[in-house]
Amino acid sequence: MNTIIIQTENGNLKKQDLYAAANIIKNGGLVAFPTETVYGLGADALNPKAAEKIYEAKGRPSDNPLIVHIAELKHMEQIARDIPDIAYKLAEVFWPGPLTIILNKNDIVPFGTTGGLTTVAIRLPASKIARSIISCSGGFIAAPSANVSGKPSPTMAEHVIADMNGKIDMIIDGGKSTLGLESTIVDLSSNEPIILRPGCITKAMLENVIGNIEYDRAIIGKSMDEDIKPKAPGMKYRHYAPEGCLTIFEGNLDDVIKTINKEAELCARSGKRVGIIATEETKGLYKHGNIISIGRRDDEDSIAAGLYAVLRQFDEIHAEFIFSESFGTGNLGQAIMNRLLKAAGYRVVKVD
Ligand code: TXA
Ligand code: MG
Repeated sequence: MNTIIIQTENGNLKKQDLYAAANIIKNGGLVAFPTETVYGLGADALNPKAAEKIYEAKGRPSDNPLIVHIAELKHMEQIARDIPDIAYKLAEVFWPGPLTIILNKNDIVPFGTTGGLTTVAIRLPASKIARSIISCSGGFIAAPSANVSGKPSPTMAEHVIADMNGKIDMIIDGGKSTLGLESTIVDLSSNEPIILRPGCITKAMLENVIGNIEYDRAIIGKSMDEDIKPKAPGMKYRHYAPEGCLTIFEGNLDDVIKTINKEAELCARSGKRVGIIATEETKGLYKHGNIISIGRRDDEDSIAAGLYAVLRQFDEIHAEFIFSESFGTGNLGQAIMNRLLKAAGYRVVKVD
């Protein structure tokens, strides 16, 4: 298949390109588009055949449900039922933005989109390009992250091209995703609200609006407990996996740097290709291997925005071993460490 690649200018999508994208979606095709979190791989959410194509292009297990993206709050009522007041409260504060809300689904949403579940995940993104495509394509776009299943989510069109060229109809290049981590997912389909996936909207930010909310027990902690099943089916997979063996070093930062230097030297001596995930503050302190800065320690947003691109860069150079510093788990750190730990398959070395 020939994949059309569309450039945008200063964050604007040309009218003719917008209509072309909408036509593809209305006809059951696939269009990858930018959002503020990561790039999405969009299809008509109400057409089960289109959803099937998404699973095929990604190589994604079909029990892993898709998020339905909308462009207007009132469209939530067309696809969801039993909507609690707190859904409106959260929507009012955090939409458009990086929050996904899970509600009981209406009949018009096919099970092919929800992976057989009776609930539906809904997000109203902040990205203007995303919203214009959603509005123009009928209002409901199912879109997972536009990566091949198991790869880091794409935060640049180049990432999408690497994974999807030749497999989908169109890729819209909207530049770098500003946030770089997937949306926070909150389940409001049962009595207790639960965070199924941490993201840029933090627990504290949610609690400011709706009071106490807990994380899904299966997603917190340092290792994935096999016995507790995550409520978001996608969270059970070892996502975001780089090709190389990634290890996270935890402890006092000076000791972490010393230990990584030692390990990197050993690897380099035996001819192994080594990558180091450093930060602006520490990158000058490493002596061996390919050192890539993920962002600034004093600016969590920059670390979130840099994470997936760094993991992909190490794939490009075929790093066999990757050593990473760890980051705090306050605020956005919870989401950053959730993704990094998964990428590392929970391989953590405590340095004391
Ligand atoms: O930021 C984002 O959310 C991006 C952009 C493109 O919007 N999308 C994204 O989609 O990350 P995806 O498919 O990569 O991740 C969706 C997650 C999966 O873990 C899936 O299992 C979960 O949401 N999910 C979707 N529908 C659900 C439902 N009804 N119940 C529980 N979990 C659900
Ligand atoms: Mg994904």
